[in-house]
Amino acid sequence: MLVVGEAVKSERGERGERGERGERGERGERGESEARVGSRRSAEEEPVSDAPADLPNEASEEDPDRRSEVSSVRGRDEIRFAHLSDWHATSLVGGGRALLRPKRLSGWASWAFSRRYRHSHRVLEAAFRDLQSLGVDRILVTGDLTHVSLEREFRAAAVQLEALGDPERVFLIPGNHDCYVPVPHEAAWDYWAPYLAGGRPQDFDPEIGACLTGCRPDAPAPRHQDYPTLRLAGRLAMIGLCSAVPTPLFRAGGRLGRLQLDRLERLLVALEERGFFRVVMIHHPVAETGEPARRALEDAAALRERLSRVGAELVLHGHKHRRHVAMLPGPEGEIPSIGVPSSSEVGSRPGKRAQYHVYTVRPGGTGKAFELEPEIRGYDPATGRFERIDERLF
Ligand SMILES: [Fe+2]
Ligand SMILES: [Fe+2]
Repeated sequence: MLVVGEAVKSERGERGERGERGERGERGERGESEARVGSRRSAEEEPVSDAPADLPNEASEEDPDRRSEVSSVRGRDEIRFAHLSDWHATSLVGGGRALLRPKRLSGWASWAFSRRYRHSHRVLEAAFRDLQSLGVDRILVTGDLTHVSLEREFRAAAVQLEALGDPERVFLIPGNHDCYVPVPHEAAWDYWAPYLAGGRPQDFDPEIGACLTGCRPDAPAPRHQDYPTLRLAGRLAMIGLCSAVPTPLFRAGGRLGRLQLDRLERLLVALEERGFFRVVMIHHPVAETGEPARRALEDAAALRERLSRVGAELVLHGHKHRRHVAMLPGPEGEIPSIGVPSSSEVGSRPGKRAQYHVYTVRPGGTGKAFELEPEIRGYDPATGRFERIDERLF
C-alpha cells in the first residue's frame, strides 16, 4: 500500500468517404445485442461485430439515479476505481473505401496480419465481467478503442462502452488510434460523447471552472482544444488529458499543446488546494520509456516539468500495451505514473497478456494524506477469466 499526499512528503521528503457516410445512415438499423461485447461466440480471430447502437444519453443533474449514485460515493471515505486501456477490439472487415488512405491501409495491414489475432473481444468480455463482479465506483479508460478510426469502429466501441457501464461511471479519453487520420468528429468521437465529457465549467466553483472550457454548444464531445476534462467523485478528481492528434504514416506520437498544459497546471493547483486526490489520465506515457520519438508524447518533458511544480497523486496511461511503472518527481514527493496493458490481449507475447488495474483510495493519517492501494487483475487463458495477480504494482 502506498501512502500519498502528506505521508509521501514525510516518507520521501474525414468525412468524405462514401462508405462512412453510408455507415452513418445505417445507425440503429441492426440489433444492439448483436454487437454487444461478448455477444459473439466465434473464434478469437473472428472480427468483433460493429453493429450500430443507440447510445444512452448522458444523465442530467436532475436524474435521480445519478444523484443517488454520486451521493453514495460522496458519503463514503473510500473510493475504488479501475483503469483499462487499449482494447482495440473492433473489426476492419467491411471497411470498404474508407480504408483507401495510405495510413489506414498500413493500419489495416497491421490489423490483418497481427492485431486481429492479439486482441480478443472474448478477453475483453471477461474483463468486463470481472469488473462488474468487483463493483468499482468509477472506471477510467485511457483510449485506443479503435484501430484506424473508421466510423464503424466508433460505433462498435460505443456499444462496448455501453456494455462496460453507465457514462456516469465510465470516464474516457481518446488515444492515438482514435485519431488515426483526420476525421470529422460527428463520425468519430461524438459517438462516445457521454463517456468523454467532463463536467461543465459552471458545475464547479469559479476557480476550477476557469480552467475548463466544456463542450461548445454545437459539439457533443470535447475536442482536443477543449481539454482538460474533469469529473469529481467524493475526494477523487479525475482529470482527462488529450494527447490524440492525427499523425503521419508510421508515426503514433501525441501532443498536448501549451494551452492544455497551462490549464492543467492551474487546475491541479486549484484541486490540490481543495484537498482532492488528483488522478491525471493521458494516453501516452509521461515518463521516459525508451519509446522511439515517433511513438512518444512530444511535450512529455513539458508535462513532467508542470507536474514537478504542482504535483498530482497519480498518473495513468496506456499506449505501450504492457505494464509500465515510473515515479515522476513532484513538489512534495514522487508521483506514481502507471501504464496498464491492453484489456483484450490474448497474451501471445510475453508481458502483453491482458490486465487491468484497480485502485482504492482512502484517507490517510493526516488531513491531506491519502492511502492508495493498487491491485492487478490479469487474464488467465486456462480459465478464460480475470483473476487477482499477487504482484506488487509499485
Ligand atoms: Fe494501443
Ligand atoms: Fe496508442
